[in-house]
Amino acid sequence: MTTNTIEINRLRYPMDDGKPVWLFGYGSLIFKADFPYLERREARIEGWSRRFWQGSYDHRGTPEAPGRVVTLIEEEGACCRGMAYRVSPEVFTHLDFREKNGYLRFMVAMHFADNRQTQGLLYIAAPDNAAFLGQAHESEIAAQIARSRGPSGPNDEYVLKLAEALRELGDHDSHVFEIERHLLGEE
Ligand code: SIN
Repeated sequence: MTTNTIEINRLRYPMDDGKPVWLFGYGSLIFKADFPYLERREARIEGWSRRFWQGSYDHRGTPEAPGRVVTLIEEEGACCRGMAYRVSPEVFTHLDFREKNGYLRFMVAMHFADNRQTQGLLYIAAPDNAAFLGQAHESEIAAQIARSRGPSGPNDEYVLKLAEALRELGDHDSHVFEIERHLLGEE
């Protein structure tokens, strides 16, 4: 049900040189930057789609009643917009703790609005992690989210804040907006 990834992540992409690292956020890391950063820029990654397919046992749900949060699914031709932060390596201690429920660090190419490209780290909860819930219809995902809450607050708040942040980025994420629509009871 839960996999604590802290130790695994500590060994992935060691940052022994102490140099700042780019982090790409596509979910709560867009709207809740509870860590210090040196720089923050809108960015995108290619070949990945954002999906509410990861179970949340520690933030927006509980072990008895998991909520749903986003992860990334590989999809050819897809583009995922988000926020990039340049952070000191020490910040990953906090990030590894925050993302410990099944997320692993991966290195990706990220593109900025001016098309400059750089390598950066992001957190993905892969389908083989124990908290992965997988695909469901947006209406079912919304129904689960509507009844879930955890130590970080109600699950619907995560969706509404993410949708608002994506609108600010000018991203039309139909999966997220469809779940938001169900939560708001819109026809
Ligand atoms: C992210 O925001 O980049 C990862 C998923 C999350 O913490 O919501």
